[in-house]
Amino acid sequence: MELRSPVSERASIEVPEEASHLSKPFNGTVCSREGDEYPVVNNIIDLIREPKEFSFAQSSNHWKVTAALYEDIWRKRSLSILTGEEFPIDKEKELLLEWVSPAAGGLYLDVGCSTALYARALKKAEPEARVVALDLSMQMLDEARMKSEADEADLFLLRADARDMPFYGKVFDGLVMGGTLNELSDELKVLFECRRVIKDEGVFFMMHLLRSSTWYGRLLQDSSEWSGLKFWDLDESNQLFERAGFHISEQFSKGIVCFTRLKAA
Ligand SMILES: C[S@@+](CC[C@H](N)C(=O)[O-])C[C@H]1O[C@@H](n2cnc3c(N)ncnc32)[C@H](O)[C@@H]1O
Repeated sequence: MELRSPVSERASIEVPEEASHLSKPFNGTVCSREGDEYPVVNNIIDLIREPKEFSFAQSSNHWKVTAALYEDIWRKRSLSILTGEEFPIDKEKELLLEWVSPAAGGLYLDVGCSTALYARALKKAEPEARVVALDLSMQMLDEARMKSEADEADLFLLRADARDMPFYGKVFDGLVMGGTLNELSDELKVLFECRRVIKDEGVFFMMHLLRSSTWYGRLLQDSSEWSGLKFWDLDESNQLFERAGFHISEQFSKGIVCFTRLKAA
């Protein structure tokens, strides 16, 4: 897999396929021809040199306990809690696979992957696809690594900032983002990056949370905004997608949970 060096547009970094073979620990470094070098520890390629500032919501993803409990305690139940009806994780994965339809030989990216729930689902559904899982949190990536190895889903695991992605333009056949939009400190910049790296005919699966329409829901959301979480109503978030160069090809929401299939405009 080819990465764009974080320090020079013109320098690429070749990542060996073995780095994605999670049954075998891969350690060492990867570097560009310009000589910038990045550690690979236990298959996780770390492109972050100087971490930027984090909001509270983002910082909590860097706690080992959050990473360890996130998927089993919260994520598997989250959509049922947030939609107010039975919404099993398998139903979410079904929609993901139906809308993204991963192809053999295709390249896919899970943006802000946490434990790589979406990335693993794509790879399990199409083992011949190449899937990259990107997050800022090493703790989340460690957990993603464990879960992916257990699922026998080989992924490229990348610690990088979605505001400045280490990829050349128009390389991905599909992007997926589950819940991350609400946590981003610069959502428009990340969406522009998504538009830059997706192919013109690519598909972008987005799950995000809307501003609640009930007073008690709003109260809860308003009181969580200090932590860096953001919520928009449907029109506002659709305007964000459109400003970044996407159009909405499919969309539905249940409660505050919104699923959108975006295509390049
Ligand atoms: C709500 S969680 C994502 C959950 C996951 N996508 C899922 O479906 O289970 C948000 C994740 O985005 C990551 N994140 C936040 N800002 C980021 C950024 N600028 N670049 C990369 N990852 C980021 C956080 O570390 C966190 O793991």
